Amino acid sequence: MKIDVLLGLQWGDEGKGKVVDVLTPRYDVVARFQGGPNAGHTLEFEGQKFVLRSIPSGIFQGGKVNIIGNGVVLAPDLFMEEAKALEKSGHPLHERLHISKKAHLIMPTHRLLDAAYEAAKGKDKVGTTGKGIGPAYTDKVSRSGLRVGDILENFEEKYAAHKARHEEMLRSLNYTDYDLTEVEKTWMEGIAYLRQFPIVDSEHEVNKLLKSGKSILAEGAQGTMLDVDFGSYPFVTSSNTICAGACTGLGIGPNKIGEVIGIFKAYCTRVGAGPFPTELFDETGKKMRDIGHEYGAVTGRERRCGWIDLVALRYAIMVSGVTQLIMMKSDVLDSFATIKACTAYQLADGSVTRDFPYDIQTGITPLYEELPGWQQDLTKLTSETQFPKAFSDYIAFLERELDTPITIVSVGPDREQTIVR
Ligand code: GDP
Ligand code: IMO
Ligand code: MG
Repeated sequence: MKIDVLLGLQWGDEGKGKVVDVLTPRYDVVARFQGGPNAGHTLEFEGQKFVLRSIPSGIFQGGKVNIIGNGVVLAPDLFMEEAKALEKSGHPLHERLHISKKAHLIMPTHRLLDAAYEAAKGKDKVGTTGKGIGPAYTDKVSRSGLRVGDILENFEEKYAAHKARHEEMLRSLNYTDYDLTEVEKTWMEGIAYLRQFPIVDSEHEVNKLLKSGKSILAEGAQGTMLDVDFGSYPFVTSSNTICAGACTGLGIGPNKIGEVIGIFKAYCTRVGAGPFPTELFDETGKKMRDIGHEYGAVTGRERRCGWIDLVALRYAIMVSGVTQLIMMKSDVLDSFATIKACTAYQLADGSVTRDFPYDIQTGITPLYEELPGWQQDLTKLTSETQFPKAFSDYIAFLERELDTPITIVSVGPDREQTIVR
């Protein structure tokens, strides 16, 4: 068996949570491979709404196994809060949720360091989610991290040493006005809570599952434009959000990857700072935000909105080897008379490129193609045969431009508002 990988192709919040939930019945196992509580994956079904941060979005579909892989960074206190809320709403997780020993822990001091580094950056702030993601991954790469496997013995000692090192760093950043007493207490409760879950060698588990014929869906967090190598650096997150991240974040060989499913919105959004060539600062952008409810699932921040960027999408498809596409939030454009799609960039020297350039911070003028809007309510449609012609034309145009098939179209936030083509 192979493992299919589902990835966001824009700046995150494409609707990964919804789609993973919809696709889960096709799989035996769902696994997260990178990111942490910076993610906010929203699912809606039967009139209920859930936002998942660290727990895979396959958790609501029957007795499937869900795995938090080694590439994830886990905050025990936030994990406990998330898991207990799910249990309370009738979705018990124990035995169904397996956690990698090699996943790194986000300590309370990582969150302080996140805030301290942002403050030190001044006007060049990344606009992080403040969840300690960057500092936790920095500790991992600098060989100083604490892992889930560490909680199994002598944990207090290890924790104290790491905390002391972080406090030294905070002092050097003049960031000393904090009191960790309460948060540390909850964090330690989170550690005790974590011990109740199967803590596993997930790379062995994943490979054995594949060998025994089980199917796995790997769930990405964030999106390609936030990838630490290929995103709009330095305004990115600290992990590899592309397909290769599934290999390192789960311990699987590239030859085990099956379908690479890329998901994107019919337009584009970004939360936090950094370049966004097709961003709209006018009424049209505001209209997208209002209709699409574009506010961060984790931080509540306003999401910046703009037209779809096919230069960036082509690049995202290239670096992950995307084999099929899913288009989300099509219904948000229902009332637009004209829809624009950026097909190329004009650079500062006047030249035109369809290839995503090294620097998108300065001198980019997006070149647009205009298409007629469908001006019809898509939210109640159930099959492709009911699509208005202008909507089918938009899909065909995108498939041509992106040279990749669109296999699913989403027309509303609910599980049911999903059309498989
Ligand atoms: P994720 O981080 O990729 O899982 O996406 P988020 O959950 O952060 O943001 C996507 C938002 O769009 C959520 O509020 C979803 O409920 C909502 N959503 C998903 N698909 C659709 C859709 O097709 N139409 C509309 N209107 N909303 C959608
Ligand atoms: P999901 O999985 C949208 C953004 C932050 C910030 C940058 C770095 O829901 O799509 P970090 O806290 O990771 O160090 O912040 O990345 N960011 C996201 N934007 N969706 C996300 O996740 C994000 N996770 C991080 O806003 O610009
Ligand atoms: Mg999100």
